[in-house]
Amino acid sequence: MLAEPYKIKEVKHLPKLESHERWNLLKSVGFNTFHVMSEHVTFDMVAQGMSAWTQEQKAGYMIGDEAYAGSRNYLGLLKTAKELLGIERMVPTHNGIGAEKLLVTTMLTEGQIVAHNRGRSEGLVPFNKGEPVDVTSATAAEHTAPEHFGGNIDTKRLNELLEANGKEKVAYVHMEACPDGWNSQPVSMANIKEVKEICNKHHVPFVFDISNALINAWWNIRVEKIQKKPIELVREMVEMADIIVADASQDCRTDVGGFITSNNEEYFEKMRNQVVVFEGLHTYGGMTGRAMEVFKVGMQEMARDEYVEWYETQVEHLYETLKSFGVPCFRGCKGVALDVEKFLPQLKDADFPKFVLAAALYIHGGIRPRIDGELKYHTSGDGKKTVNLEVPRMGYTQDQLSEIAACVADVFDNCENISGLKAFGEPEFVDQISFEPQRQRLFVSFPSKDERRHSVCEPHKIAIIEPVNVVDKETRRKSMERAGYNTFLLDSEDIVIDLLTDSGTTAMSSYQWEGMTNTHDTPYSSHQFVELAEEFREILGFDHCIPTHQGRAAEHIMSQTMIEPGQLVPGNMYFTTTKLHQEMAGGLFRDVIVEEAHDPESEFPWKGNIDIKKLQACIDEKGPEMVAYVSFEMAVNMAGGQPFSMQNVKDVSELCRKHNIPLMFDATRCVENSRMIQLKDAEYKHTPVEDILREMISYGDGCTVSCKKDFMVNMGGLLACNNDDLAEKFRRMLRIWEGEVTTGGMDPKDMEALRRGFLDSLNDDYIEARVAQTQELGRKLKEAGIPIVNPPGTHAIFLNAREFLSHVDQEEYPAQALASAIFIETGVRAMERGNVSKGRNPETGENYKPALELVRLTIPRRAYTNAHMDFVVEGIKRLWEERKNISGLKMVYEPKVLRFFQARFEPKTTWNF
Ligand code: F0G
Repeated sequence: MLAEPYKIKEVKHLPKLESHERWNLLKSVGFNTFHVMSEHVTFDMVAQGMSAWTQEQKAGYMIGDEAYAGSRNYLGLLKTAKELLGIERMVPTHNGIGAEKLLVTTMLTEGQIVAHNRGRSEGLVPFNKGEPVDVTSATAAEHTAPEHFGGNIDTKRLNELLEANGKEKVAYVHMEACPDGWNSQPVSMANIKEVKEICNKHHVPFVFDISNALINAWWNIRVEKIQKKPIELVREMVEMADIIVADASQDCRTDVGGFITSNNEEYFEKMRNQVVVFEGLHTYGGMTGRAMEVFKVGMQEMARDEYVEWYETQVEHLYETLKSFGVPCFRGCKGVALDVEKFLPQLKDADFPKFVLAAALYIHGGIRPRIDGELKYHTSGDGKKTVNLEVPRMGYTQDQLSEIAACVADVFDNCENISGLKAFGEPEFVDQISFEPQRQRLFVSFPSKDERRHSVCEPHKIAIIEPVNVVDKETRRKSMERAGYNTFLLDSEDIVIDLLTDSGTTAMSSYQWEGMTNTHDTPYSSHQFVELAEEFREILGFDHCIPTHQGRAAEHIMSQTMIEPGQLVPGNMYFTTTKLHQEMAGGLFRDVIVEEAHDPESEFPWKGNIDIKKLQACIDEKGPEMVAYVSFEMAVNMAGGQPFSMQNVKDVSELCRKHNIPLMFDATRCVENSRMIQLKDAEYKHTPVEDILREMISYGDGCTVSCKKDFMVNMGGLLACNNDDLAEKFRRMLRIWEGEVTTGGMDPKDMEALRRGFLDSLNDDYIEARVAQTQELGRKLKEAGIPIVNPPGTHAIFLNAREFLSHVDQEEYPAQALASAIFIETGVRAMERGNVSKGRNPETGENYKPALELVRLTIPRRAYTNAHMDFVVEGIKRLWEERKNISGLKMVYEPKVLRFFQARFEPKTTWNF
């Protein structure tokens, strides 16, 4: 699979700053990227502690046994380490440094040597008066790809060193999997074995750091074609070592945590006693209970091969993209290393070229490379030669990595005019240094907006992921059979990409989650209610904004309050629940949408418009007093997310006012309609989406909203109007049918998520990327010759099943067959919108056979990446080639009402694709 083996559960907003703003920010921190605040960094290229968590890790975060001794979380961690890695006991520590601290203070005496492959010789060993000796092979810094196992130890040198000094003089040999100091180049299994044998021969303890062992194992498997799982090789590494140290914030994807262990009784005893001096008790070692739980779950997930596989795919993507732009760089297991000298040959050491390049990358692309620790390392020796861009595990998308590569390439192409930095003083550590440009004006030069390489990427970083099962085609075929060829009846567990609906399927942001954790949960008045009502009043402009638990609840109340039996309710197409409630109140629905909306071929840009003549005809037919209200939906769902124009809403509003007919919106997808106006109407090109929304909605008298769509929550609804008497009627029904007027059946957590969700969606970067994702999906399908409804809408792409399966008669449910076939071929779940959904005419018993026989691919908000969309396109393209092998369906079970939910089918003839 060439897309993420997970969907997005929670996102963090990425800042969008201009280069000159970043220049000023960097200046304010002395041109040292270390001190730029994270909210001003777009791409923080550090692997340690920067990974996305899985939702199971986040759940674990809530399970903290905050005991001082014998915590359950510790026992759980221990159990997992035992089962998975064969580690019988461990001393937990607050992080990787904590583990090394226990190592150095128990195993090293003053003057002893520590032989290692870490690429950097700073920190605890020299501080404790030991002598670090790097014994990595001499060519370590030259390796451009992990295939060469550039982290390997020069065993001849090691042997000589141990021979010459003996076990009294050498404290231990410290070997690290994918050492950061060598651009995270891996070590080979053969080399580990050899090092272990040499250690044994000389009776010197062999310490192995497994922080990055999983990716290290993956490279061994790939290069040596070993028939094992990565976790099995990690286990072998563990078995070979006398002492194991681990930083949990790498392969286990935690923020903090670590451990040290040994199967040698004497060593272990010492560590266990030492931990209380430096870290905490031996059953928490400086970690909270919840941190241990996150660690435990992360360790369990190391057994899922698809994560490490995907991570390496991402690193490869970054590297290959940089290469394609001609950028000089090396590739490691955790990212790439840019060749400083080739970037800035004009600069001398005294110009601090590494820091200059870091500054240029930040100013141009908001990219922060990894530079930390001792300053000397970065200004001399091998450390000064490269700038490392590490990839956080699962944190960024493919398109974001492409964007990073494009920015780096821009900088590379414009490097010749870059001048150096001069430093104030010569401090010991990176965080202490500050600089000043040698020449203010020519400090960095970067391309102007028009000269830049262009790429569109998601405007959020991935915070939490939800794993998806990638089951094989034969398994899917069986699931589909079990589900009676009805995608509603599939288990979501079997689904790779779920495009059934955009309703309630949004990935919330950390901003929303933050608000949800600090609420006082009461059914009566709360801050959350008051602020929600105020914020919505301010943005939507309606005097009364009333929460309901979801959209159909608001529709029910509006319909019951505003419709007298026999009155007409003209609307632009219909939505099932909206129409149902209007009819339940005795209203007669009239479709007054423009004709173009019913023609899948028409490229008319405003297919959501109301046809003024049709509306006028309704009024003329029964008289204005017999029109309850005009029901005007934004970004019309059933037409494929088709917008109406600003001019049309003005015209409709004028006509309504003239006849004193209320104009009520279904504002479920109001932000998307606003974006379409910004996109398609030149007059609004430069107007922020929020202002377009305010204007658009100002022409109406009230609205219902299903907040599960544009308002970015998983549950919620809204009812709004200007008229005080009407609002009183709304509230009366609300109390009886929904809940208190202060909640409408929601809880304060959901109300806070809703308020913040609406603010999220009004962000221009978000809505631009959101609509672009759908439009791109449509464009790519169309480009491949696949028949879709034109033009692509905002939240969904509709496939024209009649054309796709032109050999299948409509009585054999082509859209149902196509939706089923898509699932079998691709694992993507879509929704039938055709003959099955429309049902039978109760009088004749015949199928309605609607003009449109469609399959809806609906895009949830923020949950899938652009790479997922490409995966969908590729799959549907494959199926297009096989379309003749898909037969129609026979309905074998048919419920009386809303049959599409429960109906079951069988293929007319066996499908062989
Ligand atoms: N209005 C529109 C335009 C909708 O799309 C929906 C739901 C509703 C009202 C009903 O709101 O579900 O919150 O009660 N549409 C979903 C969909 C079900 O898949 O299109 P709800």
